[in-house]
Amino acid sequence: MNLPREIRYRAYSDWTKDEMDKIKDNVKRSPWRASYHIEPKTGLLNDPNGFSFFNGKYTLFYQNWPFGAAHGLKEWVHTESDDLVHFHVTGAELLPDTKRDSHGAYSGSAYEIEGNLFLLYTGNVRNENWERDTLQIGAWMDKDYNITKGENVLIHPPADVTDHFRDPQMFNYEGQLYAIVGAQNLEKSGFIKLYKATDNNVETWEEVGNLDFGGTGSEYMIECPNLVFVDKKPVLIYCPQGLDKSELNYGNIYPNTFKICQSLDIEKVKLVGTSEIQNLDYGFEAYATQGFNTPDGRALIVSWIGLPDIDYPTDKYDYQGAMSLVKELSIKDGKLYQYPVEAITSLRASSEQFTAKAETNNTYELELTFPPNQKSELLLFSDSKGNGLSLIVDTKEGKIILDRSKAGIQYATDFGTIRECSIDTKETIANIFVDNSIIEIFINKGEKVFTSRVFPEKHQNGIQLKSGEPTGKYFELKY
Ligand code: FRU
Repeated sequence: MNLPREIRYRAYSDWTKDEMDKIKDNVKRSPWRASYHIEPKTGLLNDPNGFSFFNGKYTLFYQNWPFGAAHGLKEWVHTESDDLVHFHVTGAELLPDTKRDSHGAYSGSAYEIEGNLFLLYTGNVRNENWERDTLQIGAWMDKDYNITKGENVLIHPPADVTDHFRDPQMFNYEGQLYAIVGAQNLEKSGFIKLYKATDNNVETWEEVGNLDFGGTGSEYMIECPNLVFVDKKPVLIYCPQGLDKSELNYGNIYPNTFKICQSLDIEKVKLVGTSEIQNLDYGFEAYATQGFNTPDGRALIVSWIGLPDIDYPTDKYDYQGAMSLVKELSIKDGKLYQYPVEAITSLRASSEQFTAKAETNNTYELELTFPPNQKSELLLFSDSKGNGLSLIVDTKEGKIILDRSKAGIQYATDFGTIRECSIDTKETIANIFVDNSIIEIFINKGEKVFTSRVFPEKHQNGIQLKSGEPTGKYFELKY
């Protein structure tokens, strides 16, 4: 939603309790609140931040402007989880309250060090002429979730970046802590800077160089770069804004992509043996995905179900955006798989054989097997007039097509109403998670993923089978 700058950058302390109560009441009017996904209590949720393991639990912050469905003065809101499925807002917040983050606590990462959680993030600063300074700064969170900010700028913008320089992600490689930062160079191409913590002291960072990841520079900015290790192989996950479509076909305003690499050569500042650039997700919205390696070596990721610069039907209820399910990464036969963590099955409250249903509560999982050599079509969020979200699983032609042109309230149609990807022409499994206005589809246990919003109208809650003979289960999900 477009709101004037004076509103979006109004100090948090200037918002009255009355104004906040009105916003909260408005959020409550929404017919689309999710039941088992993280959504903002109020306002706009965007990137996952500080995703980490801390004090025996998982920590995940969400980036938030709490006062409406717009990109305003951002803070981080802290949530914790024991199982990566149930998350609780703890009340801890990283506020934009110093001169080093006066115009927003922008995205960043977290790493546990000797019993405290270190947060490395971007302080967004503007002067009177609205010129931007972009500072990489730090804060510590203790076990009681008290946050103390450092006094120093830890990484100043280097000479070869514009004012687009943000989203530091820390990672441990062979016992040394590094950070990568998304950047735009003076020729207005995207690139990634690599830093290392001098003597592993996270209060002092030195530049290693510009990370060679085999990019072409056709994008104008790289947001939210992340390096995670899957079976020791580095996987680079990043958002190359404006990437040339001849390089990668994508339908959303900005893509979220990845490359699987063979190794990281620190001396050469290079990811070696990089795959082609690929879409991380084939749905209508998944962005700013953040990942980290757990102390026991798993690679976990979570995505913002939303996109920058898009208006959503929830805007009129003063909120926007949600967090995806947490997905665990694996590599099989050279392909990246992303699949919800095992604890997700704890949401299954009842189970029945899959059949068409005139009505559901739009909170369920389908686990379906599609036979080979067949075109199947499901209509989800369907009504008696034939409206709904069409999912075609075509094992004859080898493709999946998701068409939301007849699904609920239409929005972002400038970017098309169909998303598709290719699959092998053989028996195909789909796990489909529906949560009121969110759908996450995992093909063949995460070989391809479609993450999307759908905003059904009243009575758009059926499941129809238009063609084909998929078999499987319907699970009602309860949080
Ligand atoms: C990505 C992003 C980041 C930035 C944050 C600001 O969605 O633009 O690059 O840190 O959002 O909210």
